[in-house]
Amino acid sequence: MSDLFYAMTMPGLETLAFSEIRATIPDSELVKFMRGIALFRLTTSPENLLDLRTTEDVFATLAHIKGLRRGQDALRVLHSATLNADLVGAIASWRRAHHGAKPRTWRVVSQMSGSYDFRRMDGGQAVIDALRKTMPRGIRLVEDDADLEIWLWLGGNDVLIGLRLSNATMRHRQYKREHLPASLRPTVAASMSWLSRPTAEDIVVDPLCGAGTILIERGLLAPSQRLLGGDIREQAITLARRNARSADVDTTWKVWDARELPLEASSVNRIITNLPFGKQIGTRAENEELYTALIQEFDRVMGPNGLMVSLTSEDRLWDTILQEHGWRTQKKVVFVVLGQPASIFVSERA
Ligand SMILES: C[S@@+](CC[C@H](N)C(=O)[O-])C[C@H]1O[C@@H](n2cnc3c(N)ncnc32)[C@H](O)[C@@H]1O
Repeated sequence: MSDLFYAMTMPGLETLAFSEIRATIPDSELVKFMRGIALFRLTTSPENLLDLRTTEDVFATLAHIKGLRRGQDALRVLHSATLNADLVGAIASWRRAHHGAKPRTWRVVSQMSGSYDFRRMDGGQAVIDALRKTMPRGIRLVEDDADLEIWLWLGGNDVLIGLRLSNATMRHRQYKREHLPASLRPTVAASMSWLSRPTAEDIVVDPLCGAGTILIERGLLAPSQRLLGGDIREQAITLARRNARSADVDTTWKVWDARELPLEASSVNRIITNLPFGKQIGTRAENEELYTALIQEFDRVMGPNGLMVSLTSEDRLWDTILQEHGWRTQKKVVFVVLGQPASIFVSERA
């Protein structure tokens, strides 16, 4: 069995994803963080790796190469690292993750973010050439839609070659039938829920819920007392309701204006929300007005010791407004969403 694994995350969410890994799989031991990657070791068999909610993809590591040299030499290193990898052990992990299924096809996917003096394709070819020699009989090389995907990740100082254990349902989720523009990636919604330090007593509200991703992920992550979501657009609520039904998460949805919530004062203890960024939805000037109105309303409905987890790309604006209204930000996680930096704020009333 291969004991080295890695999780791919949205860049910026690596440490957070690893905190979920450690909580779910207690024997996991961190080896290294890289951009969008947490590399870790496990001593037990990785049964529940695919249940992780803040991770986009999970891999069994075939090789981790540090300080890859340039030129022809580099391609030879990639080739021989692949030749020497424990492919059989990695395939055993894949089969365990896929309920004993027998793989019939394979392919190589290459990603290059660091700078090298060979082409990404040539790196991929070096891996393919080696795998042709070591791949068990009966498993065929194909162009797309392979059972086994071996990913070559060329990240600069570190190179990883891994067998992908997950498939697209890990990050896209099966429940997510309905999409809206500006709809949040489920792994980000799960990360925000994770940051809200969930308890079974939580009364959680997402005042600007869109297609409902945050509350659905919160519901799937941990029990709560109540989940409440609303949006100013009726269409969003229709979609949120459908998504929640298909995820089997019990949530109350309402059409409302988040600046005037139909909720009692101090009636919730968690607010988790993705604010309009002023790009796809809203403008900058509108946001300033909206954010100010929102914080006043959040102040009113939030009970004592409540925690708010909010996401925006209007980092400075939101930071200032929070401070002006007596909120203290305990933690800020910066990552990239839709090609622009965004921050998750974890805040409480000072
Ligand atoms: C960034 S999106 C939220 C996306 C959501 N997290 C998802 O995954 O689909 C912001 C949402 O805020 C809603 N919105 C804007 N102004 C609002 C207001 N005053 N009250 C309630 N919802 C509002 C928009 O309709 C939009 O759906």
